[in-house]
Amino acid sequence: MAAPSSFGREGEKAKLAYEAKLLKGFSRFEPRKLGQALVIGCSMVMVTFFLMLGPSVIPFNKFEGIMNGETRDGDPAFNQTYDLCQQKGDLSSEGHVINHLLCTRNVTEEADMKPVCDFSDMRSDICELKGNIRIRGNSSTILSEISTSQREQSWTIKPHPRKGDLTALQHVTEMSVKLSSNKEELPSCSINHTIPAIFFSAGGYMGNIFHDFTDILIPLFITSTSFRTEVQFLISNVQPWWLAKYKPYLQQLSKYEVINFNKIENVHCYPHVIVGLRKHKEMSIDPSRAPNSYSMVDFSQIMKKSYGLERQVAIKLRDNQAKKPRLLIIARKFTRSFMNIDEIVRMAEDLGYEAVVAEAKVSSNLVRFSHIVNSCDVIMGVHGAGLTNLVFLPINSVVIQIVPLGALENIAWIDFGRPAFEMKLRYLQYVISEEESTLIEQFDRDGPVFKDPGSIHRQGWLALRKIYLDHQNVRLDVNRFKSVLIQAIQFLH
Ligand SMILES: *[C@@H]1O[C@H](CO)[C@@H](O)[C@H](O)[C@H]1NC(C)=O
Ligand SMILES: *[C@@H]1O[C@H](CO)[C@@H](O)[C@H](O)[C@H]1NC(C)=O
Ligand SMILES: *[C@@H]1O[C@H](CO)[C@@H](O)[C@H](O)[C@H]1NC(C)=O
Ligand SMILES: *[C@@H]1O[C@H](CO)[C@@H](O)[C@H](O)[C@H]1NC(C)=O
Repeated sequence: MAAPSSFGREGEKAKLAYEAKLLKGFSRFEPRKLGQALVIGCSMVMVTFFLMLGPSVIPFNKFEGIMNGETRDGDPAFNQTYDLCQQKGDLSSEGHVINHLLCTRNVTEEADMKPVCDFSDMRSDICELKGNIRIRGNSSTILSEISTSQREQSWTIKPHPRKGDLTALQHVTEMSVKLSSNKEELPSCSINHTIPAIFFSAGGYMGNIFHDFTDILIPLFITSTSFRTEVQFLISNVQPWWLAKYKPYLQQLSKYEVINFNKIENVHCYPHVIVGLRKHKEMSIDPSRAPNSYSMVDFSQIMKKSYGLERQVAIKLRDNQAKKPRLLIIARKFTRSFMNIDEIVRMAEDLGYEAVVAEAKVSSNLVRFSHIVNSCDVIMGVHGAGLTNLVFLPINSVVIQIVPLGALENIAWIDFGRPAFEMKLRYLQYVISEEESTLIEQFDRDGPVFKDPGSIHRQGWLALRKIYLDHQNVRLDVNRFKSVLIQAIQFLH
């Protein structure tokens, strides 16, 4: 059934959009844009993690998890902890931990003086410091004071969760995190805070709304929400307009003023600092790893609250009801544009929709735009960042993603299909036919662009983007597409 690549090719039924919930197992395609770089970057990081840091970075709570009678498990960190106990002779001959207290006391001393920098996750690096942490504005070092009897250590980190994506990380200032007992090196505090701080960079692809969400806003929710607004954000590489655009949201997560790290010079001191952001998946939250089992539904609710959006649930159509469902058509001006938007609007109105056409620009006023989205029940658009606005839709709304040619079904599903499901929206994915793509005006229909998109994918993300994303517009065949809009109406009944 429904192998994604068969869409658009197998008669009327396959042409119909499908509910993507059928498409399980997609996540194996996940590390897409990063391709090779990610895989290489990842294995290098793993090697350094084990060779250089050794057992001293075992998180304390991990250690507490070893109880009398417990044996090894498959987790490398647990095994390392276990080995430490073994060296200290706290294991019985059967290999059980028999002296829990002795073990913990020794490691506690170590763990208390050291931050835990964790470079093992494939998406983000993170350091967590506790004690007396000093951050000088606009500098490149975060210092944690230790006593002279403790070992000095340092790490470097790019505090932005697009690990392995070298293009994005070019715009992210590297920070060094250092444990120091050198009084001359340690600046004196201008401000002593009693709250924790989260430090991250908003370099990367900021301004592209998809990346704003997937790389910052969602990871920040995951990282900060357990502090219940008692936390301060220090942001590097950030533009003032970006802060202004997302201020209503940032204020939901922190009741303290955001510090634009590159605009200050004084020294802020904190008892607890997290450097970097946790990220689970693209545009997604894994409730099993999130505080309070939060999910994308919770994220979407906070987003709606931030921008004062009141509609919680989409229209429920009944027969003979005068009220029309509202359809938002996300227009794009330069790439992946609809070539026949007037025709699409007429067809939608014939089917009983009230159609709204809007373009989600970088400069769009988010307060206004999010209100337009929240007033609608169905959103449709060609694969692209504008669809990120689906976070503002009321529950039960329908998202229709139009996928251009180029074997982009998996990317489409990962970026917006799965997130839509996770936010309790309905989702329809429509893959266009060759006749609906303007690529037929530029390329030989028997050549690799049409017959072997895999060969273009293998040339890398840039080649793929150039052909299928930057040079393709869509002329929807409204007769073919009609069934999708009818299906969306059925969802609203
Ligand atoms: C942990 O130790 C057990 C027992 O020695 C071993 O079988 C397992 O492979 C180890 N796991 C890791 C991840 O090192
Ligand atoms: C900590 O471990 C060392 C051996 O590594 C041992 O000599 C010492 O007694 C232990 N300290 C405590 C407080 O148990
Ligand atoms: C901050 O705390 C340190 C240590 O308690 C103290 O020496 C320093 O004067 C304080 N700085 C300010 C500005 O209050
Ligand atoms: C921050 O550092 C940059 C580069 O070193 C410098 O150009 C800028 O003036 C500094 N800003 C402040 C407020 O010191």
